[in-house]
Amino acid sequence: MLILAFESSCDETAVALVEDGRKIISNQVFSQADLHAVYGGVVPEIASRCHVEAISILTEKCLNEAGIDKKDIDAVAVTYAPGLIGALLVGVNFAKSFAWVLGVPIIPVHHIKGHIAANYLAFPELEPPFLCLSISGGNSLLVNVKSYTDMEILGSSRDDAAGECFDKTARVLGLPYPGGKHVQALAEGGDKNKYVFPIGNIAGSPYDMSFSGLKTAVINLVHNAEQKGEEIDRASLAASFTKAVSDSLVPRTMMAAEELGYKKIAVAGGVAANKDIRQDFREQCDRRGIELFIPPMNLCGDNAAMIGAQAYYEYLAGNTADIDLNAYASLDLDSDGAFR
Ligand code: KG4
Repeated sequence: MLILAFESSCDETAVALVEDGRKIISNQVFSQADLHAVYGGVVPEIASRCHVEAISILTEKCLNEAGIDKKDIDAVAVTYAPGLIGALLVGVNFAKSFAWVLGVPIIPVHHIKGHIAANYLAFPELEPPFLCLSISGGNSLLVNVKSYTDMEILGSSRDDAAGECFDKTARVLGLPYPGGKHVQALAEGGDKNKYVFPIGNIAGSPYDMSFSGLKTAVINLVHNAEQKGEEIDRASLAASFTKAVSDSLVPRTMMAAEELGYKKIAVAGGVAANKDIRQDFREQCDRRGIELFIPPMNLCGDNAAMIGAQAYYEYLAGNTADIDLNAYASLDLDSDGAFR
């Protein structure tokens, strides 16, 4: 089954063709990051306008590169939640028009389920059930993936997402947006034990996370040093900060795997591209004999191939929508199905 998939929930316009949920035929991503960098974060209005300009060009590129005729497309998939509402609406309306013209089903996909499904593209052997930590710019979720479509949130960040915390740390260090990869580069050669940062825990909710205290601690450290005219060891600060994020994510995920009896852990989302966090997961999983799945870098960030992958399983579960499909800025993973 050939699915044409669209993703426009934030600042990447993406179009992909995916076969049977597992094989990428074409995967086109246009990142708007440079346009937003000057503002230090995503400007929703600019993002929406940019999606409008990019989406048809990217669709044509996707079909041309794949050498696929429109009549060979069996269904159209689109991210319908969560995200920036204006940005989502561009993808949803474009996808609905495309599906209507072709006379094929439209499959709405929850963005986080898409991130999790990026692992199906990278690992043909991976099948639910498994535990997944999804860490991106907007969400940090520990998810019990019971089946391809039935998922339960075990824990989530009570405040900032892990990616947001990377971006704010980058900003206070004068690094460009989006900051994750710049913090990673700066951390190389730094001493990860030089600065001690707090790790947020929520009493009575062991799987929930909190990153706002860590963000504030980094900002205070930098501002205090500036006021006193003291030099900061920037590489060690970046390394110590990354260690604090990793220490908040990895042991929590291991604890959940142990309690739920999982021997398969997947990690997903933009922050899963972080080399040190990947390494910490690898070490802890090896130690426990747990199989670890983390997509390659190009499938960690936002893309449409992951939407096409999840769409295949949504289609098999009968989760298609009508032409009145709407977009939703926020929607919990476990209350997915707002289109019905
Ligand atoms: O999944 P994603 O592309 O978009 C959302 O759905 O949010 O994630 C973007 C986030 C940004 O906060 C970015 O700074 C972070 O992923 N990120 C990283 C790295 N690469 C991207 N964070 C840490 N280390 C990286 N190498």
